[in-house]
Amino acid sequence: MIKRVILDVDTGIDDMVATIMAAKSESLKIEGVIATAGNQPLTKTMNNTLSVCQQLQLDVPVFAGAAAPLVKKPHCAPHIHGEDGLGGVVFPPLEKKGETLHGVLFLIETIRANPHEITVIATGPLTDIALAFSIAPDIIGLIDSLVIMGGALKGGNVTSHAEFNFFYDGEAAQIVLSSGAPVVLVPLDVTSRVRISEDRLKRYEQVENQVIRMMCTSLRFYQKAYAHNGLEDPIIHDAVCIAYAIDPRMFSGNLMDVSVTCSYDEWYGNLKAADSINSSVFVTTGIDTARFFRLFDDLLL
Ligand code: BDR
Ligand code: CA
Repeated sequence: MIKRVILDVDTGIDDMVATIMAAKSESLKIEGVIATAGNQPLTKTMNNTLSVCQQLQLDVPVFAGAAAPLVKKPHCAPHIHGEDGLGGVVFPPLEKKGETLHGVLFLIETIRANPHEITVIATGPLTDIALAFSIAPDIIGLIDSLVIMGGALKGGNVTSHAEFNFFYDGEAAQIVLSSGAPVVLVPLDVTSRVRISEDRLKRYEQVENQVIRMMCTSLRFYQKAYAHNGLEDPIIHDAVCIAYAIDPRMFSGNLMDVSVTCSYDEWYGNLKAADSINSSVFVTTGIDTARFFRLFDDLLL
């Protein structure tokens, strides 16, 4: 069965990889893409999202979402994704235009018009989803599922207790996770198992295809940025959510009660989680990495 999806992204190198995977999959039908602020300010993530869709010849509407977190100041990630957010890829002039309707309203309208049909895949901060749930709480019961890249069961990648998307907008993450919506959470612990090795990157660099070339230019930058920051092979976090939407059987996990710390101290953005069969949040805890890369290569190469 084909899954109808809305992507909410802060494009971002790994968001770009996620968008490529989603666009190439025949199991997913992308209804629209919303760009939100996160890895870079909204003007850049919106331009990046439009450029990636144009490069993919992906004929779907692109909307601008939230320009800032609900409460705190923005905190972008140029040291990982570059000043442009995509590691310096040079795109052809941008012809694709963004829609005038706000992304949050698109989300509300589409879910209302297609009850129990729409899966939302959120790979940036959760500001848009939190706003949509606050403006139109009826959609919480109408969404088919919400797959989220965010949080960490152990540790973090921005502070020692917080992952980037939850740290960027902890209040939004807490609103969404406590909403009762059917959530699948893909935390850092799982995404960290999906890294692009030097051998793999070299193999992709041999492929004669414009989209793969764009991806490889970004991934080369990403690899250097990781190394420069003392990190191992780069992680394509957001692509893991797309794999979940296509083939959830490659994952293991449990229903958990979850919350996100919003106190303004060193714990801000921290995910707290404990097993609970009564929760609406399924937290993935494992992935078959070989199976992920089989899917990835089948879609892209
Ligand atoms: C998340 O943060 C962003 O920098 C990535 O795009 C990903 O969504 C990983 O913590
Ligand atoms: Ca992202």
